Amino acid sequence: MDAPVDPITTAAWADLRALADGFTPDLRGWFAADPERATDLTRTAGDLHVDLSRNLVDADVLAALLALAEQVGLERHRDDMFAARRINVTEDRAVLHTALRLPPGSRLELDGTDVVPEVQEVLTRFLAFADDVREGRWRGVTGAAITTVVNIGIGGSDLGPVMAYEALKPFVREGLECRFISNLDPTDAAEKLSGLDPATTLFIVSSKTFGTLETLTNARLCRSWLLDAFRDAGVIEAGADRDAVARHFVAVSTALDKVADFGIDPANAFGFWDWVGGRYSVDSAIGLSLAIAIGPDGFREFLGGFHTMDEHFRTAPIEQNVPVLMGLLNVWYANFLGAQTHAVLPYAQSLHRFPAYLQQLTMESNGKGVRWDGSPVSTSTGEVFWGEPGTNGQHAFYQLIHQGTRLIPADFIAFATPAHPLRDGDQDVHQLFLANFLAQTQALAFGKTVDEVRAEGTPESIVPARVFTGNRPTTSIMAPALTPRVLGQLIALYEHITFTQGAIWGVDSFDQWGVELGKQLAVQIVPALGDDTDLAAHQDPATRALIAYYRKHRSS
Ligand code: F6P
Repeated sequence: MDAPVDPITTAAWADLRALADGFTPDLRGWFAADPERATDLTRTAGDLHVDLSRNLVDADVLAALLALAEQVGLERHRDDMFAARRINVTEDRAVLHTALRLPPGSRLELDGTDVVPEVQEVLTRFLAFADDVREGRWRGVTGAAITTVVNIGIGGSDLGPVMAYEALKPFVREGLECRFISNLDPTDAAEKLSGLDPATTLFIVSSKTFGTLETLTNARLCRSWLLDAFRDAGVIEAGADRDAVARHFVAVSTALDKVADFGIDPANAFGFWDWVGGRYSVDSAIGLSLAIAIGPDGFREFLGGFHTMDEHFRTAPIEQNVPVLMGLLNVWYANFLGAQTHAVLPYAQSLHRFPAYLQQLTMESNGKGVRWDGSPVSTSTGEVFWGEPGTNGQHAFYQLIHQGTRLIPADFIAFATPAHPLRDGDQDVHQLFLANFLAQTQALAFGKTVDEVRAEGTPESIVPARVFTGNRPTTSIMAPALTPRVLGQLIALYEHITFTQGAIWGVDSFDQWGVELGKQLAVQIVPALGDDTDLAAHQDPATRALIAYYRKHRSS
């Protein structure tokens, strides 16, 4: 890989700096002066209608951002990803999650081998398994059909499946439930196992590496829970553990040898490849729980949605390219206007885990201090992504977005058709909900002036407190409905926004070395919490004191 272009050395960066100097956004004025602004700054990508018009950009800023993309070689880097070049430099890997959603019959060569047939073979196999579970052809050791699927995984092996399962609840087959165990806190396993019937429960151990402490610990806990229950009920004889595990445990991993060591029948394991990053893996067999829940057809629709957005990102001219434009806007806010965070505010309760999902996608990808050639970055990178569904957030943190001192760009996401069309008397509740989506973005953009506040007869002493400055940037994303296809498009949109930002900054958006040190230290510290007082005594003073507190106060 060539060294990344340092963005701050480009002419476009200098232009953006000059534009940012003394920049005075004026959304009221811009809209008044240009009645076409909303139309001109709205784009379509697949089923997504994306209104960028309430961002703090004028034509000059937009042109400079597009020039920046060109000058750092964004399109070349994107093409390198799609062409299977090893753009994950620090792990020496290609980055091919887009291959997971290529239609059958496509071709994509990695080191001279077409990867599509392998991808399709695993996809066919795990979708057939999903169908067997759904149709009751796959039975537990007692002969009972499966009604609960428990996915055990963490990070990318959890966040995607749980987010998508929650988002697509209306598409989940009646009588089937998925639960997700991720945290090493034993409360998570205890609560999720509570009330389950082992005879009708299937566990999916999802781990790319099959070496993750949390997942393996939770998998062992669940295996003991299952076997103890079967032994207590006299369902299995001593020595018949293997059969029970084989009927109730399957695995998804790139490390199929470790799956076998755990005692899961390799016939019940579904693989994927090191060129799929954990946070990009919900569209691989890691999505098995979702595939069982929404069915093979639904899952193929989901993949089709991703592919639509991939094609848009790959082929649309950059001035029409939604992920490119949204990524560039984020760079504008983060590097030139001082934004440190970015809110994602879905007006869809079903997307309540979407911000959490995006936190791993964006922050594990772009939270980097060195570039892909090892040189230090020359700009700030990786904003903090966060959010909650509207309208809940309105009654919690929106105050700060409307009137606080920080600039918080926000993406608002809404759907024309509700999952549950309910009425409150004559009132369509979804209309009430959407009115809030529209009102919030309007208020943030245009605010309320001193004169307008005074004109309402507000006592002079509280006029300042009731003024809204406006010029708080938002992007509004709408789609007809939250379907598997639309969800695939939304996820891929944010994957490619993340790619765009990483490419501008020159970071390797596909490694995650920053998670390693804490993992190593935890393993070393475990004995210090047990009998190893010598090890405890050799910790740093703060850790030592906390261990002492723990020893004194642990009661059971
Ligand atoms: O610790 C971070 C991480 O490696 C993520 O990137 C990954 O999604 C998660 O852990 C889980 O890893 P695995 O799927 O290998 O268990």
